[in-house]
Amino acid sequence: MPGDGIGPEVTHQAVQCLKIISDAGALDFSFAEHDFGGVAIDAHGEPLPASTLQACRGADAILLGAIGGPQWDGCAERPEAGLLALRKALGLFANLRPARVIPGLEDFSPLKPAIAAGADVLVVRELTGGLYFGEKSLNDDAASDLCSYSKGEIERVAHVAFRAARSRRGRLTSVDKANVLATSRLWRSTVNSVAASYPDVKVDHLYVDAAAMALVTSPTRFDVILTENLFGDILSDELAVISGTIGLLGSSSSGDNGPSLFEPIHGSAPDIAGKNRANPAGAITSAAMLLDTLGHSAEAEMLGEALEQTLREGCRTADLGGNHGCAEFGERVRATLAVKIAGQSSMQDYFRSNRGCCG
Ligand code: NAD
Ligand code: IPM
Ligand code: MN
Repeated sequence: MPGDGIGPEVTHQAVQCLKIISDAGALDFSFAEHDFGGVAIDAHGEPLPASTLQACRGADAILLGAIGGPQWDGCAERPEAGLLALRKALGLFANLRPARVIPGLEDFSPLKPAIAAGADVLVVRELTGGLYFGEKSLNDDAASDLCSYSKGEIERVAHVAFRAARSRRGRLTSVDKANVLATSRLWRSTVNSVAASYPDVKVDHLYVDAAAMALVTSPTRFDVILTENLFGDILSDELAVISGTIGLLGSSSSGDNGPSLFEPIHGSAPDIAGKNRANPAGAITSAAMLLDTLGHSAEAEMLGEALEQTLREGCRTADLGGNHGCAEFGERVRATLAVKIAGQSSMQDYFRSNRGCCG
């Protein structure tokens, strides 16, 4: 689902990467494209048409670009409502947003290299509860959004985070606002009881305001951050720029069963849409996460390495201070990927046969 704004530009680059892998014979993907978000409002009168939801339910994996834009701000049902409805309908309660400062590319970070170096954090964001989905009311004089969490909702996402911590550096920081919010008190006690099943994982708790500060003063103190829906939304944008740009981060959203959804964490970036200026790295990272989730970890790793190598070699979009376009960047990633797939030692053949640019 390419979606709106820069969504189609960045997903095109990611899909082309998946096609290279598919064409190499390693996998046999078939692709289907569906309207979602603002484009679906224009074409079908609603952001999540039944046909799109049905296609998602029938897919092995879903790749999304981004949705939204000022032209749909006044709509009764905004594109964003379609995204929330999709997450809910598919039960995608666990949103994984990994970010790292790429070794050798510490200069991308707005933080001092000495502070940023080595940062490698996974945000596990609860995605189908909290303020986003509570009862809402709005009139001219008053408005309300209800924040509620059940113990079961907290437990299931906590298990995802603890398992992730176990496979990483064994540290989990749960972020809440338990000094003020009732939901956060339940959050904290539930995380502590789940922790008993993971004695090998070291747990600590931070209030969200302190966590926001610690992310920029000492990002390397974090391994896995587990948090509720709204806090996770905000902290993951903050974390993204520590790596250099929001354009770098991908994500996966999963439930207990059914297909997972993969999307960059950025939005539709209306300010740069259609200008070939978007960074497709977040979408390509999302495609790598898709491969990994489907069990193709070798291919996922190859794609991730091709992406990092491309950045290291100086091919960069404007958000990283470079002058390469979205398409040129994607082309270069694919050239590097093709070399890895073929085990070739030089990119020259690929460039010759593919009218490559950016070389
Ligand atoms: P945004 O993430 O779209 O843009 C914020 C800033 O980051 C902009 O300056 C933009 O140019 C830049 N940026 C974002 N992605 C980039 C990329 N790949 N390469 C280079 N620069 C990039 O956030 P916003 O402006 O607050 O929101 C715009 C629209 O997107 C809104 O309608 C919002 O609701 C929607 N949105 C959608 C999603 C999603 O589809 N998952 C996520 C966030 C926001
Ligand atoms: C994200 C976005 C969405 C969210 C919006 C577009 C509904 O900001 O995926 O991070 O808040 O979850
Ligand atoms: Mn967000």
